[in-house]
Amino acid sequence: MKSASSPEHRRSFILSSFFFILFLCVLASINEVRFDSLLKFGHSALSNTPSSNNSSSENHPSSVNSSSDDIRILIGILTLPDQYNRRHFLRLIYGTQTPVGARVDVKFVFCNLTKEDQKVLVALEIMRYDDIIILDCKENMNKGKTYTYFSSLPEMLRDTDENSTTPYPPYHYVMKTDDDSYFRLNNLVESLRELPREDLYYGYVIPCPSMDPFVHYMSGMGYLISWDLVEWIRESEIPKNHLEGPEDKTFGDWIREGHRGKNRFNAKWSMYNFPEPATGCTHELWPDTIAVHLLKNQEKWIRTLKYFNVTDNLKPSKLYHIP
Ligand SMILES: *[C@@H]1O[C@H](CO)[C@@H](O)[C@H](O)[C@H]1NC(C)=O
Ligand SMILES: *[C@@H]1O[C@H](CO)[C@@H](O)[C@H](O)[C@H]1NC(C)=O
Ligand SMILES: *[C@@H]1O[C@H](CO)[C@@H](O)[C@H](O)[C@H]1NC(C)=O
Ligand SMILES: *[C@@H]1O[C@H](CO)[C@@H](O)[C@H](O)[C@H]1NC(C)=O
Ligand SMILES: *[C@@H]1O[C@H](CO)[C@@H](O)[C@H](O)[C@H]1NC(C)=O
Ligand SMILES: *[C@@H]1O[C@H](CO)[C@@H](O)[C@H](O)[C@H]1NC(C)=O
Repeated sequence: MKSASSPEHRRSFILSSFFFILFLCVLASINEVRFDSLLKFGHSALSNTPSSNNSSSENHPSSVNSSSDDIRILIGILTLPDQYNRRHFLRLIYGTQTPVGARVDVKFVFCNLTKEDQKVLVALEIMRYDDIIILDCKENMNKGKTYTYFSSLPEMLRDTDENSTTPYPPYHYVMKTDDDSYFRLNNLVESLRELPREDLYYGYVIPCPSMDPFVHYMSGMGYLISWDLVEWIRESEIPKNHLEGPEDKTFGDWIREGHRGKNRFNAKWSMYNFPEPATGCTHELWPDTIAVHLLKNQEKWIRTLKYFNVTDNLKPSKLYHIP
């Protein structure tokens, strides 16, 4: 500032400072406009309908950006109350997936608690995760637990608040799966995007060599139905009178006897059993995968998760180093 002593210099300094500040202001306002329109664009990109201003996603941490025209899917994992470690693990598996354009709720499903410690531990889990459904039944695999699951949902999810904005149906699709299946949620959602939302029965066709979804039934590794079929299961006499037997086959019997599932989708070979031990139901791990089943031990899980690069997005940090 040595030369700023002359008035001439001072005036030109003030003048140029003024213009510089003016320039900054203009720049800032342009950016603000840009940022604003970016926000607006982001918003409208997420919500195509005017009524979806406020997405009701606040209660669903697994779907932060979902809007009301997203596909809504409930995945019920049938498991047992004492399977604490398995639930912990599956929460990691599904909690680290962020499907796009869908709200996917993963819930653990079991029957009445039977032990004192469960009443504390499961209640704590619910307080922390709120992802558990306890049905009114006694634990069983092939004596109607699946029926109780599907038939309880309409009442459990019915919205009694007359002013509520909860959409109908609460879910477009409901799935039943097991705790040894691994679903890749984005691939699942993409496979559903073009499918009907009524009278749909989706899964891996049994018998294994068959590719015809209208013969026999979908494997218990994970099958999915549209909401109207959930309501039909609740109301129809057909399932009620036929509860016992392998749950997936029994389910297929209901659908056949009730002449339901005019829309079907065979997700084979995007769904398959883990490659080893090889059978007619297995497939090599491959990129076009929706689900892998029979992950019966940690080694099989690790191989699968590694194959699908699930930890590739781990953010770098000074706090840890994973080779
Ligand atoms: C959505 O939000 C915009 C501005 O935030 C508002 O003008 C419009 O009325 C809202 N629509 C609904 C359905 O709430
Ligand atoms: C959207 O949310 C805002 C604030 O959270 C609320 O004032 C407004 O009434 C809501 N609009 C609708 C359509 O629910
Ligand atoms: C939600 O949107 C934000 C900003 O647009 C993005 O950073 C974030 O990854 C999105 N989250 C999900 C779950 O898609
Ligand atoms: C399950 O528990 C509920 C509430 O504790 C009870 O009313 C019901 O009878 C039980 N059901 C069975 C099948 O044990
Ligand atoms: C529904 O809204 C009306 C009018 O806003 C109100 O009088 C009524 O109490 C509300 N009902 C419930 C169950 O909140
Ligand atoms: C996993 O990452 C490797 C290396 O980047 C890549 O070659 C492979 O195709 C990826 N696998 C899948 C299933 O995306």
